Amino acid sequence: MGFRATCPSFSTIYFLFILLVASTIFHCHHRLALVPAPWAYSGRVVLPPRHLPPGGMFTINAKGRLGNQMGEYATLYALAKMNGRPAFIPAQMHGMLAPIFRISLPVLHGTTANRIPWQNYHLNDWMEERYRHIPGEYVRLTGYPCSWTFYHHLRDEILREFTLHDHVREDAQRFLRGLQAKWARRATFVGVHVRRGDYVRVMPRVWKGVVADRGYLRRALDWFRARYRRPVFVITSDDMAWCRENINASRGDVVFAGNGLRGSPARDFALLSQCNHTIITVGTFGIWAAYLAGGDTVYLANYTLPDSPFLWIFKPQAAFLPQWVGIAADLGQAGENSRS
Ligand SMILES: *[C@@H]1O[C@H](CO)[C@@H](O)[C@H](O)[C@H]1NC(C)=O
Ligand SMILES: *[C@@H]1O[C@H](CO)[C@@H](O)[C@H](O)[C@H]1NC(C)=O
Ligand SMILES: *[C@@H]1O[C@H](CO)[C@@H](O)[C@H](O)[C@H]1NC(C)=O
Repeated sequence: MGFRATCPSFSTIYFLFILLVASTIFHCHHRLALVPAPWAYSGRVVLPPRHLPPGGMFTINAKGRLGNQMGEYATLYALAKMNGRPAFIPAQMHGMLAPIFRISLPVLHGTTANRIPWQNYHLNDWMEERYRHIPGEYVRLTGYPCSWTFYHHLRDEILREFTLHDHVREDAQRFLRGLQAKWARRATFVGVHVRRGDYVRVMPRVWKGVVADRGYLRRALDWFRARYRRPVFVITSDDMAWCRENINASRGDVVFAGNGLRGSPARDFALLSQCNHTIITVGTFGIWAAYLAGGDTVYLANYTLPDSPFLWIFKPQAAFLPQWVGIAADLGQAGENSRS
């Protein structure tokens, strides 16, 4: 209510947010076509409705790309456990995650899922006390939760759920061993995820914000150069051409990995998670890679103006672990297009 009274462009922002979601889902569908068929990987599948758990059950929407769905999976895992309910994932989520990770939650077959009288329960992107007592029997959690505040107390279990399949891990390890062979002494691998793509337009236009620029990346790389003897920066991105132009590789410690195409999220993700430390920019993909890598993490901080509507749905302190190191963004370009 307060928002409507003080901010006339709320409906515009809401409309653009819906557009963003729709475009994310569209891209997600494109990407789904690129991963192996979901049923190539085993999952316990529930078919007949009469076998549904009598005490009710939890599921969650499968929205967004890899990082979003990891957040949804982990949140479902944690909240179902907290509420003492069994958790089932939708088939689309299994299709996205099971080719990469050894996830264990059972899968709900689409026809079964359609027959259940779900009650939707919206989640913010941070834990709240009321989520410990979610009412209803057949509950479908909704939203884009991706916050450690839901599941960090179960870190070991979450890491076990997101253990890479052997062949995925081995591909990444082979690449890193190849790099290691070039350096005489033990290298320290720093995975760098540079997310650009649609964010380059959406951050300034919708969210009064910015994406990472070359200054941020120079400072982030220097942070590790000052602390580790032999850092090797493994760059992954959906815009590798931009990275090659904007990351100074003249010291010989930068490797442009990945093909820069959006078709290989699993490969890029595996590579980042097998590095020792992480530098991230924007997006949940990087947050998850850093969470799994478990070393030092440098992140882009304060990348929206203080009055950005982004901060209604995103709390930095719930997204970045307290021990992660923030480097403030240069907000020079923020909100440029929305003002003009
Ligand atoms: C790249 O880094 C080197 C130091 O390693 C520096 O001498 C050079 O000026 C830098 N180039 C640019 C374009 O900043
Ligand atoms: C750093 O990562 C590499 C590749 O995953 C691994 O072999 C090595 O043991 C790690 N080093 C440390 C100190 O954890
Ligand atoms: C981000 O902004 C908050 C609030 O102004 C401030 O406390 C914090 O230190 C800033 N973070 C960085 C890394 O500059």
